[in-house]
Amino acid sequence: MSRTEYEALLDQARWELASAADTDELEAARITWLGRKGRIPGLMRTIPDLPEAERPVAGRMLNQIKSELAALLEERRLALAGTSGDEEQEFDLTHPGRTPFVGRMHPITRTLREIVAVFREMGFDVVEGPEVESDYYNFEALNMPPHHPARGMWDTFYTKVPRGMVLRTHTSPVQIRTMEQCDPPVRIIVPGRCYRTDTPDATHSPVFYQVEGLYVDQGVSLAMLRGVLDTFAHRIFGADVPTRFRPSYFPCTEPSAELDIQCVGCGGGGCRMCKGTGWLEILGAGMVNPDLYGFVGYDPENVSGYAFGMGVERIAILRQGVEDIRLYYENNLRFLEQL
Ligand code: PHE
Repeated sequence: MSRTEYEALLDQARWELASAADTDELEAARITWLGRKGRIPGLMRTIPDLPEAERPVAGRMLNQIKSELAALLEERRLALAGTSGDEEQEFDLTHPGRTPFVGRMHPITRTLREIVAVFREMGFDVVEGPEVESDYYNFEALNMPPHHPARGMWDTFYTKVPRGMVLRTHTSPVQIRTMEQCDPPVRIIVPGRCYRTDTPDATHSPVFYQVEGLYVDQGVSLAMLRGVLDTFAHRIFGADVPTRFRPSYFPCTEPSAELDIQCVGCGGGGCRMCKGTGWLEILGAGMVNPDLYGFVGYDPENVSGYAFGMGVERIAILRQGVEDIRLYYENNLRFLEQL
C-alpha cells in the first residue's frame, strides 16, 4: 500500500465519521473502521505478509491513522451528545429565566430627582453651577463681607490650587451667578453637591447635596414662598402633613425662616427623631435680602424675591427612615437595595 493509498483511506474514514448524523450512525462508522473486523485492524493483520522492509513503515502509518480516527470519533461523539434527543428532553423551555443583576439609582439621586421634579412642575427651571467657587460668590455677594460673623455658619474647605477658592458650602452662589446673567423674572431650582469640613457622624457628611430655589420678579411675597414650600412638603411627605414657618437667620434673606413638618416618627407627640419637639426642620428660606440686588444690578425698588435651600440627605433620611447619613455613602449594596 502506497502513501497515497493510505491518505485516500484516511480521508474516506474522516469523511464517514464527520458526516455521521447521530450516535447510531457514528457507532456504525466506528465498527466499519476500527471494529475488530473493521478495515484498519484488517490492514494491520496484513503487515506480516509484507516484504520485511515495508513492515515498519506500514505499521507506523496504520497506527497513526488509528489514533487519529479514535480522536475524531471521540470529538464527534461529544458533538452529537450535545444535540441528541435525550438531552433535549432534559432542557425545559418553560423553566423561568435567571434574573440578571441590574443596577438602580442611588437613593440620594432618586430623592434629588423627585425634589427637582416637584419644583419643575411649578415652573422652576433647573440651573447648575461650579463646585469650586470664589469667595465672592460663596460669601461676599450673599451679603457676607470678609470677617462677617455668619461665615462661621459654614465650615469651609479652601483650595490650595488655585489659591483662595473654596469648595462651595451651599448652592446659594448659583443665585448670584444666575441673577448676573438673567434679568427678572428668574425662577430657578439648583441641585448640586456641596462641601463642609464637618467630621462625619450620624447627621453630618463633608460631602452632601442641596437643592436651592430662587424666584425674583415684581410683587413676589412671603405668602407666595409659604405656598410653594407647603406644596413641596405635601408632595414629598404626604398631603396631610402639618407644616410651620419658624423665624430664623440667613445673611442672604430678610426676613428668614425655616420650614418644619410635623414629626413623621411620632405624629407630633414627641420622640427621639424630633428630640421631643414634635417637629422636624426640613429647609431654610426667606425673602431675598435687597442688598443682594446691588451685586447683580437689579433695582431693589422694582423687584422682590424669595429663596430657599434644603439638604437632600436630610429629606431622604426623613422619608426613608434611615438613622445615619453615612450609610448612604458606604456603598453597601445590601443596605442600598432596601431603599
Ligand atoms: N444657603 C443656606 C444654607 O446652606 C440655605 C438657604 C438658602 C437659606 C436660601 C435661605 C435661602 O444653610
